[in-house]
Amino acid sequence: MLQASDNELLTRTGPGTAMGNLFKQFWLPVLLSKELPERDGPPFRIKVMDEELLAFRDSDGNVGLIEPRCSHRGADLFFGRNEEGGIRCAFHGFKFDVRGHCMEMPVIPRDENYERTRARVGIKSYPTREVADIIWAYFGPAQDVPELPMLEMTTVPPSHRFVSKKFQQCNWAQTVEGGLDTAHFSFLHQAIDKTDHLKIMGASEAAASGDPNRMRWLNDSIPKYTILEHEAGLVIGAARQADDDKFYWRITQFLLPSINFSPGTFPGELYHGQTRVPVSDTECWIYCYTWSPDRPLTEVERNRLAGGHTIHATLREDYVPIRNRDNNYLMDRDEQRNVSFTGIKGLSEQDAAIQDSQGYIHDRTRENLGPTDMGIVRFRRFVLEAARALDQGQAPSAATNPESFMVRGGASVAARSVPLADVMVGRFGDIHGRVRDLQVAGE
Ligand code: FES
Ligand SMILES: [Fe+2]
Repeated sequence: MLQASDNELLTRTGPGTAMGNLFKQFWLPVLLSKELPERDGPPFRIKVMDEELLAFRDSDGNVGLIEPRCSHRGADLFFGRNEEGGIRCAFHGFKFDVRGHCMEMPVIPRDENYERTRARVGIKSYPTREVADIIWAYFGPAQDVPELPMLEMTTVPPSHRFVSKKFQQCNWAQTVEGGLDTAHFSFLHQAIDKTDHLKIMGASEAAASGDPNRMRWLNDSIPKYTILEHEAGLVIGAARQADDDKFYWRITQFLLPSINFSPGTFPGELYHGQTRVPVSDTECWIYCYTWSPDRPLTEVERNRLAGGHTIHATLREDYVPIRNRDNNYLMDRDEQRNVSFTGIKGLSEQDAAIQDSQGYIHDRTRENLGPTDMGIVRFRRFVLEAARALDQGQAPSAATNPESFMVRGGASVAARSVPLADVMVGRFGDIHGRVRDLQVAGE
């Protein structure tokens, strides 16, 4: 449970808010590269943390992210012409480059004041980078733009990853909490076996792996949590009873400001992560990525992910999930009775449904939490402290340390007596899951 004031601090990310300022310390995904496919192509309207912006790709392939208002008389540059190195306002022809600099003012006389005026009438722009099929933007102080976070999926060759995005109709924080609350796996994603209620996994990575042991171990509905803190976030380990006096560990990573890595990956399997970017306080984009450190994804895997699998939703052309808040996720009550715990198809959609169902902004003052909620409690504490510290002038060090993001989450089986720190060293070679054998592949 949170105080109302803390819930406000956690969930509000618009201009001037402490949490919005924390987000702006980090590079954020704002578009998929394929949404701006052509040079000099149509500009694209986007909204990030309640700010309306315009993205466009110039003649050299660079991506601009600018305020949409022309500095002459305020026309919307969405209607502008994207031509020869900049976007030209359709009203009177002022032209701006990807950095917001004014290039031409065709209705202003070319007298001795022209250049001075031109230098003065630039518009707001944000730096962008294009890495791993995603266009990233930095909304923080222009004088100290950091390097991009070194997420492992950005360092593998394009053949080794799959990236998608999906629209979600609720506040960013409850979708992060859904990813960190790994206890829900024993319920939300289960299939129904009439002979043994809650016995068989539904559309999960365990079912995909076909490993019956993992499905059975998920019947332990009270995982025991251990949490380790590091510079960029938290290692959240949940231990369920396995066979032979062993624990089945599912270990997720939380990374600032809104990232989680999935907990179910055994060595050799695919890794999954998600980054949330608020559109407003009641909607967000979730960038979803699946990668292998070791090998290209097969065509079968790629097609399966593209069609909606694990964390990837089945999508409309506009990246809104086909099963969404407006149609009750096409829930089927017969299926709920006989086939799956929710009657909703798709792991991603099951997560979205239940996270949306908490409200557009979840009211955390009315909760009754238990020991299996420890991961989300620590997440809240971590981001609230980071936002407060930033308010006091202390920026998060992870924002300027890209390598602090180079970690993995995943699963392991270990003797009950082994603490999480040692499980991490055994599974990843590092207490915080830091990737040591770093091979940076070119784009
Ligand atoms: S309003 Fe854009 S050039 Fe006049
Ligand atoms: Fe889930």
